[in-house]
Amino acid sequence: MDFPLVLYSLIRIFARKNDDTGRKMADPRFTQFLELLKLCNRYKRINQWKSLYNMFTLVQLPYAMEALEPVISAQTLSFHHGKHLQAYVDNLNKLLPGSEYEGMALEEIVRKAPAGPVFNNAGQILNHELYFTQFKPAGEAVQGPTGELAAQIGKQWGSVEAFKAEFEAKGVGLFGSGWVWLSADADGSLVITQEQGASNPVVKGLKPLLTFDVWEHAYYLDYQNRRAAHLSALWQIIDWNTIAARYGR
Ligand SMILES: [Fe+2]
Repeated sequence: MDFPLVLYSLIRIFARKNDDTGRKMADPRFTQFLELLKLCNRYKRINQWKSLYNMFTLVQLPYAMEALEPVISAQTLSFHHGKHLQAYVDNLNKLLPGSEYEGMALEEIVRKAPAGPVFNNAGQILNHELYFTQFKPAGEAVQGPTGELAAQIGKQWGSVEAFKAEFEAKGVGLFGSGWVWLSADADGSLVITQEQGASNPVVKGLKPLLTFDVWEHAYYLDYQNRRAAHLSALWQIIDWNTIAARYGR
């Protein structure tokens, strides 16, 4: 119920008195009160629009649902994007209105929010946005690092194969649900990190470049318990042009 509007109408009906000619007129004291109520109502509506403006939306996939098969099936992608990620978006949009995080960019929320529902849902949105937008169909994805990124991987790991082996091993070895990331520090050095739950390397001041989602919802329909097989297959659809653009050096 629109309480200020109802109150406003009731007062207009009852807050009247007779003028010198006997006609009903509004009491000036109530006229001022009515203006105040109207202002309150307008402020409430402004806040509603503000909340709507600050809502997060589901990132659109830059490929068709079946485009990543057989590495990721259309069914897995549909559930992962349309159900799991959508739920994180919906949850965060319910948590933000009126909170200190309303109006902040997603990454800022993840960096500032303490452990809890806001951090978990914002973190999962950020993680999945980076995850889903790093893929291309196997025939279109650039299949290896180039330029500065390739040079840095070579410098730190000796070869792309050695880097991939460590990355996969850290994904397989992550206990429970989480993410394995390749990130860059401020100097451009690369680091592989394991992040539990919804965390993201931005919390550690790193720039996230590439990630494997090792929550079971990412692979269980297609691979069941074979996490290693899923992670090994993901390289086919990683678009290294996207990863190099994120590295940005
Ligand atoms: Fe996921």
